[in-house]
Amino acid sequence: MRIHVEGAEDQTLVAKFLEADQGHLFDDWEDLDSTGRRKLLDDLSRIDLGFLQQLVSDHLTSDPESLPVATPSPPPMIPLGDPGREEAKSLGLEALSRGEVGVMLLAGGVGTRLGHAGPKGSYPLLPLTQMTLFQFFAESLLRRQKEVGTAIPWWIMTSPSNHEETVQYFRDHQFHGLNSSDVIILPQEELPVIDPRRGKILRKGPGRVLFSPDGHGGAIRLMQRHADLFRQRGIRHVYTHQVDNPLAPIGDPELVGLHRIHGSQFSSKAVAKTDPDEKVGVFCQTGEHLRIIEYSELGDEERNRRDDDGKLSFRAGNVAMHVIDLDFVLGDEAGNTPALPMPFHMAKKSVKHWIDHEWSESETPNSVRFETFIFDVLPLSDQAIVVEASRDLEFAPVKNRDGNDSPETSRHALQMLWGDWLESAGYPLERNADGSPSRTLEISPRIAVDKDQFIAVFDSLEIPDEGPILIQ
Ligand code: UTP
Repeated sequence: MRIHVEGAEDQTLVAKFLEADQGHLFDDWEDLDSTGRRKLLDDLSRIDLGFLQQLVSDHLTSDPESLPVATPSPPPMIPLGDPGREEAKSLGLEALSRGEVGVMLLAGGVGTRLGHAGPKGSYPLLPLTQMTLFQFFAESLLRRQKEVGTAIPWWIMTSPSNHEETVQYFRDHQFHGLNSSDVIILPQEELPVIDPRRGKILRKGPGRVLFSPDGHGGAIRLMQRHADLFRQRGIRHVYTHQVDNPLAPIGDPELVGLHRIHGSQFSSKAVAKTDPDEKVGVFCQTGEHLRIIEYSELGDEERNRRDDDGKLSFRAGNVAMHVIDLDFVLGDEAGNTPALPMPFHMAKKSVKHWIDHEWSESETPNSVRFETFIFDVLPLSDQAIVVEASRDLEFAPVKNRDGNDSPETSRHALQMLWGDWLESAGYPLERNADGSPSRTLEISPRIAVDKDQFIAVFDSLEIPDEGPILIQ
């Protein structure tokens, strides 16, 4: 196959892909106009072909996932109500006020299940103002900044496919009141999606490569790539949260405090699983190290095992809120320890793609994407902790369009939470038979991000006698 391009750089690029037996990428070359050709060359220039070939040969020819893992045991978990947690919160607030904590939002996912047009953070979740997830987090961060009296930088990890839209969103909304220099929006990396039978790069259309983001572990790779940005700001710990969980306590002072008290390198919140078959990863201990394993990786016996008090033994469910030490993932500044490696996993999915001048679809998985997981660095830490969180107070993800973990269930959780705040402040709230507040509630995070803050300002608030209660 002969592909004519002008510049020496483009010629080398084309030759590299032809040599690597990826010539099918140029199948539509003759039908592409000059813009289409440029787009294809730009797509190709983003691919680290040597790295990709290594991934393909490591994963498609052998299966590193099937390596045996030592027998897991349930991990120690700092329980709810532990007496040290109050003091930890004060320590965490101090670390935040010294500017040692950065917050990172993981917003690079594709959000296929929710099916919202636009970045998931632009989903209008709140019941009365239709406040978006991004605004909810931004205002929560503003409130946290006010609490600690200092700026807290917010890294937002996007992916190349939603980066521009996310940046535009924040510009259009004046960063929801945050200082624009404290909102650092950076894309994670993408890798081409591969045909598992032939190791060929798939296409999303004529002359276009099909890419997918490199998984939530991209957050660690992003910290490593942009280490200077974190170091310059004097950040020591990074609190990570996901774009789909509005209840994640932003910058979580309690988790930060416990992280420091325990000299931890990787600290996580976990909610107690009550259903052994709930599909969340669980924390467990293998040998000296903590790790998270898929619920399906636990045998039937372990999955259903219960402690004397009747609770599931393997109940520490991962809800993806972590505090991670920067020195741990970057290697210390003195260069005594190297940056941590991130292993890749294969995800097999069915995708519609363009092949041999036509579309191809399949019910069964026909593609492989390579992803990293943020918690893959956990077993590499010398010291890690798991801290129990209340599911009702901290976890209500928006994953699906409806049913479980949907906008409806997340809104319900917020109603229950705010109802509790109002009652705890002494407001006589009426409830429906199912316990939910009978009036629709919405409390802006600018007012409060937790119950104590709400109670402290309650007396200054005006609550209407009837109709929805909007406090902003
Ligand atoms: P999910 O596993 O829910 O994936 O991501 P998703 O892409 O958002 O949604 P589906 O599965 O297509 O419906 C959990 C969190 O991790 C982030 C997501 O943005 C979300 O906050 N994530 C996931 C990334 O930031 N990058 C990724 O490559 C994957």
